[in-house]
Amino acid sequence: MTHDHKPAAAESATEPLESLEAHEAHHAHDAPAATEESPFGLQYWEDRYSAPGLAWSGNPNPVLVTEATPLPSGRALDIGSGEGADAFWLASQGWSVTGVDISVNALDKSKAAAESLDQTAAARIQWEQHDLTSWLPSPRSYDLVSSQFMHLPEPTRSTLFRGLAAAVAPGGTLLIVAHDVSGLDEADHHAHLTELMFSVDDVLAAIDGENLTVEVAESREREAAPATGETRMRDVVVRATRTAAAVASSTT
Ligand SMILES: C[S@@+](CC[C@H](N)C(=O)[O-])C[C@H]1O[C@@H](n2cnc3c(N)ncnc32)[C@H](O)[C@@H]1O
Repeated sequence: MTHDHKPAAAESATEPLESLEAHEAHHAHDAPAATEESPFGLQYWEDRYSAPGLAWSGNPNPVLVTEATPLPSGRALDIGSGEGADAFWLASQGWSVTGVDISVNALDKSKAAAESLDQTAAARIQWEQHDLTSWLPSPRSYDLVSSQFMHLPEPTRSTLFRGLAAAVAPGGTLLIVAHDVSGLDEADHHAHLTELMFSVDDVLAAIDGENLTVEVAESREREAAPATGETRMRDVVVRATRTAAAVASSTT
């Protein structure tokens, strides 16, 4: 699901999708206040995902694959799950996955795609509709919390990233990947989205105080998707872990 923010050409017609049972928000912990209607709010994403075909590539994000492959499977949370390729890939690796997105259209597409690809993996995924400007996951609940290209304005973004860090269970991992604001120039196709862009340091500042050990914090270069008209792009990549709870040793 390599990213550009230009509308992608529809790749194929889709069959009508069965309706997704959207779940009510049920774990609000220090949730940020809902923000005023943003240009990239619910309606924007519902419209985007109502188009036939795929908005993204249909493949899992390469950084997720690189960083999560060595991890033992457990409970994973994929926020802003889009068309579900990351959640499906994680489920196919044995993870029990919760995919969260604001868009019911995206969740419907994700569920239908997963079920058509592999019923066993699809059964490991729970799809939930939540607005991440007003909902945060329960603390210490997931062995992997993955945020791939979730771009919200401040202060919502920092509150979200702090909440995602808090949601990492002992022994678990936080992975945040996003377009990097560092080095953007006016020609970059993300340059008009500056209030949504951020750096590695912004992520580190947001999760500071959540007692995670930062293992990767870098601006990682990658090939750009052809539709962007650029050749190279930089991603923020932050991977951090929470130390496993110490097991009390027994003395005889
Ligand atoms: C740039 S897309 C990334 C999708 C997916 N993670 C990927 O890498 O392909 C951002 C996703 O976040 C979702 N999103 C945007 N704002 C949201 C919000 N306030 N709450 C929940 N999801 C949101 C959008 O619907 C969209 O699917």
